[in-house]
Amino acid sequence: MKQIQQGAEAIIYQDNNKAIKERISKSYRLPILDKKLRKSRTKAEAKIINKLQSIIPVPKILETDNQQTIEMEFIDGKKLSEHLEQLDWKSICKKLAENLTKLHNQDLIHGDLTTSNMIFKDDLVYLIDFGLGFHSHKIEDKAVDLHLLKQALDAKHFSIFPEAFNIILKNYKANQHNLIIKRIDTIEKRGRYRH
Ligand SMILES: Nc1ncnc2c1ncn2[C@@H]1O[C@H](COP(=O)(O)OP(=O)(O)OP(=O)(O)O)[C@@H](O)[C@H]1O
Ligand SMILES: [Mg+2]
Repeated sequence: MKQIQQGAEAIIYQDNNKAIKERISKSYRLPILDKKLRKSRTKAEAKIINKLQSIIPVPKILETDNQQTIEMEFIDGKKLSEHLEQLDWKSICKKLAENLTKLHNQDLIHGDLTTSNMIFKDDLVYLIDFGLGFHSHKIEDKAVDLHLLKQALDAKHFSIFPEAFNIILKNYKANQHNLIIKRIDTIEKRGRYRH
C-alpha cells in the first residue's frame, strides 16, 4: 500500500485497484468537532457516490467505516488538472457537461468542481471527491457549482479558457438550465464567491 496524495483533508493510499481515502484529524479543530466533521463528510461522500453509481462515472465504493475511511475503486486514468490541455479537451468538456447535467438533475451538488477532482479513463470523465457534496434543488447551489468550475478553469487552464467553459455551458442541459446559467452572472456581479 502506498500513499499517493496528502490533501488538505485526507490522505489517499493506493493498494492495487483500491484507493483508500482517510480523513485526517486537524489539530486546529476541537477534537470532538473534528471527529464529527470527519464522520459526517465521510458518510456523506460514500452515500452520494453510491447514489451516483448508476448515473455518472464515479469510483465504486468497496467499503467504508462511516467514520473516516472510504475504500473505493482506484481510477487509473489521467487527472484533468494535469492533462486536460493535452487531451481532446473539447470532447472532454462536452462529456463533463453531460455528467454535470445528470448530477444536477439528481439535485446533487458536487461542492468542489476543480479539475483535480476529475479523472479521464476509457473515454469517460470520472468525478471524485464528494466530501463537500450535498443535496439541493436550488438554482443558486447549482449555479455556484458551475461558477467554481469556471474559476478553476480560468485559474488553471487559462490557455483553453473561456472556450472550454463555453463548451460546458452549451452542453449543460439540466432542468431549469436557463435560470441556472443566468444565476452564474448574478453570482459574478455580486462577487461574493471569490476563492
Ligand atoms: N478513486 C480514486 N482513484 C484515483 N485517484 C484518486 C481517487 N481518489 C482520490 N484520488 C487521488 O487523490 C487526490 C485527492 O483525493 P480527494 O480529492 O478525494 O481528496 P482531497 O482531500 O480533496 O484532496 P485535495 O485537498 O488534494 O483535493 C485526487 O486528486 C486524486 O489524485
Ligand atoms: Mg480533491
